[in-house]
Amino acid sequence: MPRPSVTAIRLEKALPMDTLELLRLATRAPSADNSQPWAFTQHGNALTCRYAHPGNFRDPFGASGHASLLAAGTLHENLDLITDGQVESRLDSRHEDIPWQLNIRPAGVSIPSPELCRKIESRHTNRHPFDKRAPGQLPDCQASPGVRIVTCTESARIHALGDALQLCSRARFNQPELHEWLFTSLRWNDEEIAAGDGLDINTLHLPPGGQHFMRWIKPWHRMEMLNRLGIDRIMSIADTVMVRQAPVVIALCGSNEAQDIWNAGRTLQRLWLALNDAGLAVHPYYAVTDLGNRRRAGRLLPGWEASVLRGEEICAEALGLAQGEQVHMLLRAGFARHAAVRAKRRPPQRFLSPGSGR
Ligand SMILES: Cc1cc2nc3c(=O)[nH]c(=O)nc-3n(C[C@H](O)[C@H](O)[C@H](O)COP(=O)(O)O)c2cc1C
Repeated sequence: MPRPSVTAIRLEKALPMDTLELLRLATRAPSADNSQPWAFTQHGNALTCRYAHPGNFRDPFGASGHASLLAAGTLHENLDLITDGQVESRLDSRHEDIPWQLNIRPAGVSIPSPELCRKIESRHTNRHPFDKRAPGQLPDCQASPGVRIVTCTESARIHALGDALQLCSRARFNQPELHEWLFTSLRWNDEEIAAGDGLDINTLHLPPGGQHFMRWIKPWHRMEMLNRLGIDRIMSIADTVMVRQAPVVIALCGSNEAQDIWNAGRTLQRLWLALNDAGLAVHPYYAVTDLGNRRRAGRLLPGWEASVLRGEEICAEALGLAQGEQVHMLLRAGFARHAAVRAKRRPPQRFLSPGSGR
């Protein structure tokens, strides 16, 4: 039997992955308002990731909040793909300060295939209108335990989800905390955008003059005054009209247990990667989940509980949710009509907490 040459053996031996490159690729994962609430620490050969919110904008969720667990799940999925399953996760929401942790040994990780890198880097949000044509067969996606994927293509169900979202979206425009969150997340100029986190204003689908209008309503007292004239209703219609027109809406559903939310994040990332890879654009909608969670936690301003509850009920009926099940995320999917401006990320070294070496 011919023996392989020395060069062939060297080539077969996988090259270890650079830690910063690993961070750069993994943190392409999505997060609410592109907050990227993660910090990595390196101790010798071990890399640890925990929740950490950048101080430059508001954090309405906290370490074990629903959106934080969902985003941590998407990051876990990316890390798992990149390291070929060499990630150890620990989740215990009773520990309020450090409810979760991911441990990786980058020294044992080889450079992922160009195909996988391309797939992870290509996933993105597209907030523009999609083609009305139905996408046909959707790519297969295995849901993680405790997660159910419900695909809606019938217009009655899609319209019902649009109604549910509109009710919750209107309630959102009336919560000063959420208003402030949005406006601390928005990034308006080149310098702010180049820093790499938050919501780049150019990634939003705004009508002509929309950016000026957004700037004008930044102080809550102006938004509050306009809401009395009905702007909240108009904005909630504009916010959800593309859902009603969508050829497909996909819901990720499951219980409100921390592990199931985490698994929903992993499933979200897997599904989103598969949809984008199949040439389909994706736009997530979180209002029903977030406003529903706030209602249950008693964190809505008085007067908004009933309409949010109605939104949740419409959603539950359209999706056939079982007792104890909630929607973790709604995704509008279809063929893109316009390319989306891609959201940036912080430079990878900014995820490594001070004092940790490479
Ligand atoms: C928990 C969570 C909630 C989100 N909610 C919304 C939403 O309601 N509307 C929206 O347009 N995008 C939403 N997004 C998408 C993020 O804003 C987006 O992933 C982030 O800005 C990074 O952009 P990218 O997906 O293009 O990489 C959400 C993402 C996550 C993980």
